[in-house]
Amino acid sequence: MPKTATTAHNEKETTSTINIDAKPVEKSRVDEVDLDNPGFGEVFSDHMLSVQYKDGSWQQPEIKPYGTFEISPAMCSLHYGQAVFEGLKAFKNQDGSIKIFRPEQHHKRFNRSCQRLCIPEMSKEVFMEGLKQLIELDQQWVPQKQGNALYIRPFVFATDNYLSVKASSSYQFFIITSPVGAYYEEGIDPVSLITSDKYARSVPGGVGHVKTPGNYAASLLPAKKAKQKGFTQVLWLDANERRYIEEVGTMNIFFLIDDVLVTPPLKGAILDGITRRSVIQLARDWGITVNERPITIDEVFEKAEAGHLREVFGTGTAAVISPVGKIQHKWQSITINDHKIGPFAQKLYDTITGIQDGRGKDRFNWMTTAVE
Ligand code: COI
Repeated sequence: MPKTATTAHNEKETTSTINIDAKPVEKSRVDEVDLDNPGFGEVFSDHMLSVQYKDGSWQQPEIKPYGTFEISPAMCSLHYGQAVFEGLKAFKNQDGSIKIFRPEQHHKRFNRSCQRLCIPEMSKEVFMEGLKQLIELDQQWVPQKQGNALYIRPFVFATDNYLSVKASSSYQFFIITSPVGAYYEEGIDPVSLITSDKYARSVPGGVGHVKTPGNYAASLLPAKKAKQKGFTQVLWLDANERRYIEEVGTMNIFFLIDDVLVTPPLKGAILDGITRRSVIQLARDWGITVNERPITIDEVFEKAEAGHLREVFGTGTAAVISPVGKIQHKWQSITINDHKIGPFAQKLYDTITGIQDGRGKDRFNWMTTAVE
C-alpha cells in the first residue's frame, strides 16, 4: 500500500513526501518473542526496509517481510568488504509513543561512512521516512521494559558480481530491527579492558572513523585473546606509538580526572559516536569541563596512582554508558572506583536513558517521534 508522509523532525525540521510500498506479513511473529529478555541482536522483527541502487540511482524503497535473499558467490562485497552500517535505537515511552534517538545524526554518519567506502549516499528522506514507517509497522516489537529497546540496523553493501577490486555499480540497502537488552553480559556493571602491544584497530588515513564491517572483523582475534585472559574487550592504542588511547571498538572512552572529563579527539582514527557527542553536550551543560585531547595510557596509570582518576566509562549506542572497572596495560593493572559504577557514569546513564524512554525531559530535542 503506497503511503505518502510529511515528516517533522526535532533536530532539524524537514518536510518530505515519499512513497514507500509496504507488504505486511500475514501473521506477526512477535508473540513468539520474550521482549523482556531478548538478548542482543538475536531476533528480528517482522519487516525490513529494502532499497536497491542500480543504473546510477537509488530505486523505490519498499517495506517487506523480514527474510533471506539470494546472492551470487561472486558478490564483490563478500570479497572486498565494500559495505557500511549504522546502529541506532527506538524506545517505547510511558505514554505509549515510540521515539528514536538522534536518527539524523546517524544518517549523517552513515553518509560519511558511504563517502569513505565509495558507496552512493542515501537520501535523508528515504532514511528517515523509511525508518519511521518501518517502526510504525513493527511497533509491537519495541520493548516496554526499562533498559530494553528496538535496535535499528541500517546497512548497505555492494552487489556487483566480479572479482576485480573496484567500486560496484549496484548496491543493496536494508534496515532491519531487533528488540535488545544490554549489549555486554555485565549490563551496567563495570567491564574490564586490556591494551594490546601487538594489534592496532586503525591507522591514520584508514577507516577507523567509519562504520564498516572490516573494522569489526579485524577486532575479533584480539577480542578473543582478551577474553581468554579474562577481559571484556581491548582498549585500543594508536598504531604508531602504542601510547595514545583511541577507543574500545564497540564504544568510545571517557576518563573523569578530578573534575575534568577527558576523551580522545576525533582525528580520523576513532568513531564519531553519537552517544559520545551526547555525553560531551550533557557534561558541558552541567558545567563540567570536557577536554577532547590526546591522552596516553601512561597518563591514565599515573593519574590513577596519584588518586586523580575518579571514573572511566565507555559510550555507544549498544553499550549506552558502560563503566570500566579495570584496565590492564603490559604487566600493570589499575582498578577504577573499586570496580563499581561511579556517580558520574550513573548520572549520565540515568539522564540519557531517561531522555530516551521519556522519564526525563528531552531538553536538547534528541528524540524523533516514530509513533505518537
Ligand atoms: C552500536 O553501538 O550500535 C554498534 O554499532 C556497535 C556494535 C558493536 C553493536
